Amino acid sequence: MAEKIKVIITGALGKMGVEAVKAVHEDNELSLVGVVDVKGKGENFSEIVNNKEINLNLENDLDRIIAKTKPDVMVDFTNPQAVFNNVKTALSNKITCVVGTTGLNEVELNQLEKLAIEQEVGVAVIPNFAIGAVLMMKFAKDAAKYFSDVEVIELHHDQKMDAPSGTAIKTAQMITENREQRPPRNTKEFEKVAGARGGDVNQVRIHSVRLPGFIAHQEVIFGGVGQSLTIRHDSYDRVGFMPGVIMAIKHMIETKGLVYGLENIM
Ligand SMILES: NC(=O)c1ccc[n+]([C@@H]2O[C@H](COP(=O)([O-])OP(=O)(O)OC[C@H]3O[C@@H](n4cnc5c(N)ncnc54)[C@H](O)[C@@H]3O)[C@@H](O)[C@H]2O)c1
Repeated sequence: MAEKIKVIITGALGKMGVEAVKAVHEDNELSLVGVVDVKGKGENFSEIVNNKEINLNLENDLDRIIAKTKPDVMVDFTNPQAVFNNVKTALSNKITCVVGTTGLNEVELNQLEKLAIEQEVGVAVIPNFAIGAVLMMKFAKDAAKYFSDVEVIELHHDQKMDAPSGTAIKTAQMITENREQRPPRNTKEFEKVAGARGGDVNQVRIHSVRLPGFIAHQEVIFGGVGQSLTIRHDSYDRVGFMPGVIMAIKHMIETKGLVYGLENIM
């Protein structure tokens, strides 16, 4: 049998990290060898996830766990302040990286790409691991060839700080790559309430809803003469991101350099 891919997870105590720990543990081709979180104090992770099989002590020092476990892959779900240094450390040790943390800027991405190439390993930066969301964007891009009038409604939990979502902006960009120049609207529009018509990204209106009870949802609505087309994706649980995480780990172990976005792996 082929050797299992050895994986460590940084940000393991976080909402995404915990799900990633469980998903990596359950996959037959992967071996979870380390869990890292700045909040870690050596406690056993089996108690945190209530699974005796995940018998690993939580570390707070990435260098130490790399030296101890010699992993093949690091999965990072930390925060924008931590992610760059974590990935730099991992790549410098020839460890493939799968990054779910958002917030890396273009300069940082270029540096990480250069380092990955030098070290002959792969780094995947994936803003959205939900396979359904990636398909939604792809289908929206396809539809834009035939429908030039489109608006996006994105709906998220009320703790989300930024608006519109990164996925909505990316959807608008992908739509504009593929649609004909939109003729100017004849209707003389005015907003009785500021913002009523949403935000404008490349002439795609985006409406952001923030309510408790929601996780992450998006509708792309195309309007044509006598017809409309709605493409919708719903995330109900963070577990829905995990098939994308596992797919990225297995793909990246065979890849060198930077891959940005799950659509380039699927
Ligand atoms: N790509 C995707 O599909 C996707 C989906 C959801 C969330 N996210 C992103 O993933 C990241 C994590 O999200 P979350 O909801 O799990 O956040 P969270 O706040 O619940 O967890 C972050 C964890 O990282 C730990 N941490 C901080 N600095 C660290 C460091 N230097 N080393 C190790 N651990 C460190 C924190 O202690 C915390 O436990 C965010 O950037 C979020 O936007 C991405």
